[in-house]
Amino acid sequence: MIRKWWKENAIYQIYPRSFKDSNGDGIGDFQGIISKLDYLQELGIGAIWLCPIYESPNFDNGYDISDFQAIMKDFGTMQDFDEFMREAHERGIKVVLDMVLNHTSDKHDWFVESRSSIDNPKRDYYIWRKGKNGGYPNNWESYFSGSVWEYDQETEEYYMHLYARQQPDLNWENKEVVNELHDMIRWWMDKGVDGFRLDAIAHIVKAVGLPDADNPQNLPVVQAFQFFSNLEKVHTLLKDLNQQVFATRDLMTVGETSGLGPEQALEYVGNERHELDMVFQFEHMHLDCVGTGSSKWVGRSWNLLDIKKIMSHWQTVLHGKGWNANYFSNHDQPRHLSRFGNTGEYRKQSAKMLATLIHLLQGTPYIYQGEEIGMTNASFEHIEDYRDVETINYYNISLKEGKTEKEILQNLARRSRDNARTPMQWDNTTHAGFTDGNPWIQVNSNYTDINVEQALNDPDSIFYYYKNLIALRKKYPVVIYGDYRLLCALHHQVYSFIRSYEGTELMVIMNFFDDEPTFELSERISDEGWELVLSNYDEHEHHHLHSLPLRPYETRVYYKDTPSVLPKAAQ
Ligand code: GLC
Ligand code: CA
Repeated sequence: MIRKWWKENAIYQIYPRSFKDSNGDGIGDFQGIISKLDYLQELGIGAIWLCPIYESPNFDNGYDISDFQAIMKDFGTMQDFDEFMREAHERGIKVVLDMVLNHTSDKHDWFVESRSSIDNPKRDYYIWRKGKNGGYPNNWESYFSGSVWEYDQETEEYYMHLYARQQPDLNWENKEVVNELHDMIRWWMDKGVDGFRLDAIAHIVKAVGLPDADNPQNLPVVQAFQFFSNLEKVHTLLKDLNQQVFATRDLMTVGETSGLGPEQALEYVGNERHELDMVFQFEHMHLDCVGTGSSKWVGRSWNLLDIKKIMSHWQTVLHGKGWNANYFSNHDQPRHLSRFGNTGEYRKQSAKMLATLIHLLQGTPYIYQGEEIGMTNASFEHIEDYRDVETINYYNISLKEGKTEKEILQNLARRSRDNARTPMQWDNTTHAGFTDGNPWIQVNSNYTDINVEQALNDPDSIFYYYKNLIALRKKYPVVIYGDYRLLCALHHQVYSFIRSYEGTELMVIMNFFDDEPTFELSERISDEGWELVLSNYDEHEHHHLHSLPLRPYETRVYYKDTPSVLPKAAQ
């Protein structure tokens, strides 16, 4: 297997608005990030993925870019960015930028020109259509509720926006658009960035003819993902982007691709495909809700067998052929502790358990700011506390559709993206040490207990456990390169697997719940010679692995350098 820095390191995601404010305006910024680089170095991460830092009117917090080559004023200047890059690189930390190529802001010069008249040279940079039968050009529903079409008075046509109406979709069928985007990415590469996360990249191509989706109930709009997700031509465009732009340097790329399983993911990340290094998949993110788009708000209960099935499927299909991106949290997801862990008595144990899974599967672990101290959902109670455009659109449309405010707020408390966007909790002073001013979004009220200062003073904290996991990945090549075998597949409470590489093995045992099941290692596997190298409990009585009682969320990691499967004759 080819060695790469991005396979061996953990990547830390920063949401700059909420990380650290240096000048008291209530918004995180580059000087704030720079002041916390020593903290990140202490954690041991190898790269930072920065959510968008470009000029933006902030309808979608930077995912609506109005100038790709300028820094958002709230975050600082281009000098601040350059200083950040230097300071990160000096600490051995690489920098991955978030690139939004599916759409721009409606305030981008291209769109301002495009909407100005039907024969403007930039008209075709975006997707314009005439209405049909006095209505929308088609019946597709936007990710952020309502139609994907917005009517423009000026020229009496509609433009397409898969996300907010302030985020018109670029027209990738237009070669000029593609060339402009390539040039822009090269410009950032020349500044020395080490990689890119490609936002919403699965959606850059739309089905020919923009056909209506099936609509038996004759609704105004319906989900139509299959008409704008992972279409064949995306691969052609990514191959070009790779060959003409990325491949000229040793870059890392990770694409955001919803709606696919591992077989289809190989079309993006297969070693011989030369498209992307990794993709973010969403199968495990949909275990506690019905789907994406408007169905993300509808909850359901998850079970461990499904988690094991999904993770194991990705591990097996991609092994030796492509590379996994492993995550539980990001800026679009509620906090994973509130979904899959325990926010009460076993907050620490369950946070460590979930971290173990993300770091010891094969693939690159992604840590979202604050998960390393066990941050939880803010679950605001009033609509005024929310800031996210997706959340506010959903609230307004649902009220109109007749849902009660109570029900809507309950869904928001569980599912809103703002749960992950509250300020990073640095200490127990006002606003958690995030800002001296008024934060742009409220701090989670539990900051007096959950904060970085507290974590750094507690040798048993979640923070140090993450640090140990990262160190373990560096110490044992089996974590990076080993294959994966699921154990006790049908156990409802325990997730366990073995990784093997050149005669060395790592065994991971995780109790996913707060009761006390027994783990039983198959008799075919010897229980001799395993060394306990990490656990989320201190004291361990001696037990045989063939019958091991587990405490709530107990997690154990064992290592050995002699084969554990007994030779045939001895079985
Ligand atoms: C991606 C981003 C999300 C954003 C959307 C539109 O899903 O992660 O935050 O709202 O794309 O750019
Ligand atoms: Ca600031």
